[in-house]
Amino acid sequence: MTTLPTAEVTVYPYDCDAFGHLNHAAVLILLERARWESLVLGPGADLFHRNGVAPVVRKAVVEYRAPAFPSDVLRVEMAVVHRGTSSWTIHHTANRMSDGVVVAEADIVFVCLDRAGRPTQLPEELVRLFGPRTSSAHAPRRIRVDGAELAVEVRGEGSAVLFVHGFPFDRTMWRHQLAGLSRWKRIAPDLRGAGESGPGAAEYSIGGYADDLVALLDALGIGQAVVCGLSMGGYILFDLLRRYPQRVRGAVLCDTRPQADTVETRRSRDELAAFAAERGPDAVAERLLPGLLAPATLADQPEVMAQCREMARRCSVAGMVGALRAMRERPDSTPVLGTIRVPTLVVVGAEDRPSPPSVAEAMAQAIPGARYAVIPGAGHVAPLEQPLATSRVLAEFLETVR
Ligand code: MLT
Repeated sequence: MTTLPTAEVTVYPYDCDAFGHLNHAAVLILLERARWESLVLGPGADLFHRNGVAPVVRKAVVEYRAPAFPSDVLRVEMAVVHRGTSSWTIHHTANRMSDGVVVAEADIVFVCLDRAGRPTQLPEELVRLFGPRTSSAHAPRRIRVDGAELAVEVRGEGSAVLFVHGFPFDRTMWRHQLAGLSRWKRIAPDLRGAGESGPGAAEYSIGGYADDLVALLDALGIGQAVVCGLSMGGYILFDLLRRYPQRVRGAVLCDTRPQADTVETRRSRDELAAFAAERGPDAVAERLLPGLLAPATLADQPEVMAQCREMARRCSVAGMVGALRAMRERPDSTPVLGTIRVPTLVVVGAEDRPSPPSVAEAMAQAIPGARYAVIPGAGHVAPLEQPLATSRVLAEFLETVR
């Protein structure tokens, strides 16, 4: 826990209601005044501005403990009680100076936004100020499935949406959608060998990944979910639709394609697997990532590239080699398309090179009643490259499934 400079704020008449009490809503404003004061006393009021970010409140829980009146001076003590990669929580205690009575306590959760209004990692100076990362409120659950310990993040309540990541990524590629879409229970596993999931000993296959997902849903007591799969996650979704259609309430096929690998692609999978085994995940990332992201992402969003590199780095070599083998051996899913009977959204980045819009559009046309959306300015990783647009399209679709 990191304490911030304590601030003293005076209750003004306009903060109070007709009965003379500190008005409830005004407590939030008063606490905000205290935070500004604390910045002035500590790191400077331009802390966020000079770091190119803005703090916005995502959630506020206030407990009103005693009335306060105009001209009372409140001493507001503040402590950072949670620090994540892009969010932090400040606990506030407001004591009346004259008698020490606690007037209010509040836990306020902030998220750090970049200049484009997207959640972003805390800059170094804020990390130093707020202290070490506390254990994440969204720490994944660990569930043992067929010899591998799988990490799965479960957030919120409501109908379930299962997010399945692509290669060479992990569940954090959905971080913006996991943070938003708050009316849904969001479930995001790391597939075996990726992120925080162990590689296991079993042979990798697309069907094996699908079996893992069904086992996770069983362990979480979830019968049906809308399944949202990106690229390799889409290949796995086709297998779920083929073998476990009763578990899929709706389908989101994101930056993916139904066709099997060509002979040429299979050859390059083998070559990449040998390269991964010899040179490791970092080298694979350097080789693959420039071809996956849109040119504008590469030029203007270095943080997206950095996050993709981090995800690739977290993959084990066994996980990478296994995923390449699984994709190489996957069957053609074109025959599945016409059999899909659940609401389906096909979504693709306008500049996706591995699974371009022409392929996505043809896929949408082959699925009865499917919706189709193109995300401008995105390549193959639309949920990370253009998170707001992707989440909007997803949220609109999910409303139709609810
Ligand atoms: C992915 O993002 O999962 C990969 O691009 C899939 C593939 O290599 O076919």
